[in-house]
Amino acid sequence: MPTDTEIAHSSPWAPDDIVATAITDDERLWVPMGEGFWVRPLMFDTAHGAWANVLRTETSGVISRHRHACPVHGYVVDGSWHYLEHDWVAEPGSYVYEPAGDTHTLVIDDPGLHG
Ligand SMILES: [Fe+2]
Repeated sequence: MPTDTEIAHSSPWAPDDIVATAITDDERLWVPMGEGFWVRPLMFDTAHGAWANVLRTETSGVISRHRHACPVHGYVVDGSWHYLEHDWVAEPGSYVYEPAGDTHTLVIDDPGLHG
């Protein structure tokens, strides 16, 4: 019977262990996504259809109503934000889960570190 490690690495396209500096001042590693909005890709698991990135904003604002085909897990490093559709506020240390298919409108109240 294969071990958990053997299963996790069963595809040649599955990533190996990764240890990286997630939040960096090296601007070459941040991909511009819009005015004052970047992502820092951390991992692409093409074998299982998953990826991880850090989202950075420079200003308050709105990411228009959207939904994802797969679940989204988030952890707030700094700043604060909320959804128009819910009554809670995500703050530093918050874990956020967006179920697959959930429609939401993200409002960035405080951009935090780089704002
Ligand atoms: Fe979302």
